[in-house]
Amino acid sequence: MTQIFAHRGYSASFAENTMGSFIAAEKAGADGIELDVQLSKDGEVVVIHDEKVDRTTSGNGFVKDFLFKDIRKLNANKKGIRKEPIPALEEVLEWLKTNKLICNIEFKNGLIPYEGMEDKVVNLVQKYNLSNRIIFSSFNHYSIVYSYRIAPEIQTAPLFIESIYMPWVYSQSIRAKGIHPRHSTLPDEIIKTTMENGIAVRPYTVNKDAHMRRFFQIDCTAIITDDPVKALNLRKLYQKG
Ligand code: G3P
Ligand code: CA
Repeated sequence: MTQIFAHRGYSASFAENTMGSFIAAEKAGADGIELDVQLSKDGEVVVIHDEKVDRTTSGNGFVKDFLFKDIRKLNANKKGIRKEPIPALEEVLEWLKTNKLICNIEFKNGLIPYEGMEDKVVNLVQKYNLSNRIIFSSFNHYSIVYSYRIAPEIQTAPLFIESIYMPWVYSQSIRAKGIHPRHSTLPDEIIKTTMENGIAVRPYTVNKDAHMRRFFQIDCTAIITDDPVKALNLRKLYQKG
């Protein structure tokens, strides 16, 4: 059955990359969550998508220029009633110990090369003994190859915006167990062949009914979606058992 990963949590209805959004995804019945990580000025792994805090919080400026104690004061739930801080990755991992969700951690280090971020994330995942429920992804493929070198027990999956030739060959060459392509990138035949070669395929960000139906009908490994509730309803319709 196709797994449903809640993109930045249940971000269609809750503030993205917040504990509220992750908890809502779990309550909805998602199989997993996806989240983005970066480093604060003092080296704390924080969960936020953009390099700057401006779009998603009450503050302004680069994540890398905030001390953790200061970034925690910002409100990451600007449109909501209840104030929510930017989570530390550690807080999310602690909460993951209370449930069975899979967690896809995306290293957001394409623009800012946060030194030592992979090591810090690996140490946290190992501290909480969650290696078998974590998937590392990134558009920065050097980063996931590095994470594989230091922690081969934790699965990796390169992110793609554009199509690549024989993605299963590429994945195997970097020891990745999966690929996370943009949903419109790969035709069904390539997705199927990739899966037949033992490589998981988890397209992002699958929000439209027709796109969800397409991936359910080909029994894709997983979809990454903002709306896990819609996906769960459609999965019931298109996949039995
Ligand atoms: O991991 C899939 C997706 O999250 C990658 O794009 O920009 O939403 O982080 P973005
Ligand atoms: Ca992401």
